[in-house]
Amino acid sequence: MKKAEEIFAEAKGLIERAADPAAIEELRIRYLGKKGEVTQILKGMGQLAPEERKEFGMKVNRIKADVEGLIEDKKRGFEQAGRSLRLAAEKIDVTEPGRDVPAGTKHMITITIDEISGIFMNMGYSVTEGPEVETVFHNFDALNAAPNHPSRELTDTFYITENTLLRTQTSPVQVRTLLSQAPPVKVVSPGRCFRTDTPDATHSPMFHQIEGLLVDEGVRMTDLKGTLDLFAKRMFGEGVRTKFRPHFFPFTEPSAEMDMSCFVCGGEDPSCRVCKGSGWIEILGCGMVHPNVLKVGGIDTERYTGFAFGMGVERIAMLKHGIDDIRLFYENDLRFVQQFYG
Ligand code: DAH
Repeated sequence: MKKAEEIFAEAKGLIERAADPAAIEELRIRYLGKKGEVTQILKGMGQLAPEERKEFGMKVNRIKADVEGLIEDKKRGFEQAGRSLRLAAEKIDVTEPGRDVPAGTKHMITITIDEISGIFMNMGYSVTEGPEVETVFHNFDALNAAPNHPSRELTDTFYITENTLLRTQTSPVQVRTLLSQAPPVKVVSPGRCFRTDTPDATHSPMFHQIEGLLVDEGVRMTDLKGTLDLFAKRMFGEGVRTKFRPHFFPFTEPSAEMDMSCFVCGGEDPSCRVCKGSGWIEILGCGMVHPNVLKVGGIDTERYTGFAFGMGVERIAMLKHGIDDIRLFYENDLRFVQQFYG
């Protein structure tokens, strides 16, 4: 039989080298269990002479207590190591920068509509919207378009039925406004328009316009010119000048197109890509509201006059940001979209 000291020395070595809690449990059973080596020695004490028993018993009990102590220490060591490991694994670095949540941005068309609307809102206009599916009445008849006006053609317009169509312009909102609101009227109206154009760098079957309408007593052409000149300066820079060229629109009389001086070259560069060297850029259509249109709204044309204007949102955005192909707006290529607001 092994001596108590030998058992202790061996147990101590094995406990120290135990690699995990399971190994420790095995050693506990091996030495301290019911049939454990230490337990066995204690049991064997009966064979000793009575005078030896006391001393031997004390010695073995001390050894037993020491082995228990060593096992407890080792177990605690394992528990502590486990806790540190778990803490390390669960550690939160509060200084770590947050993860980037990809947020969308407004589309260039929306940004441009907001910018244009904002300029007119600062001049006291409110924003109103009309339907994209319109009646022939609102889109053409009420706007004084002659029965044979070319834009009525099936080849130019998406008809839904004989009397309904996808609006070709935002001008029908003028009619809706005049039918629902008494003067003074001061609105702008952005939205989608549709024409059967084949897409190319400057045409798209779906595009956007923003319409303006002001009706009040004593409104004159100078009010129109002053308003739109101010708009051009706020949109493209204080330095731009404007000029008005006679034109024809069925719903205005007189009608004009407004050009602004080239905000890129100021008319100085004969090879300027933006104004093609002419020094001028056409930016919108406008005119004094035709009495026939006011009459649709039941407005006293002796008392009230007004002006209207309409512009292409894509065109304004392309000019302002140097975009050379209208199709870029609708392709949703992030490389394009994020260039401006990435
Ligand atoms: N609706 C016209 C177009 O699509 C643009 C326009 C011109 C609107 C003159 C107006 C205006 O209100 O007065 O070409």
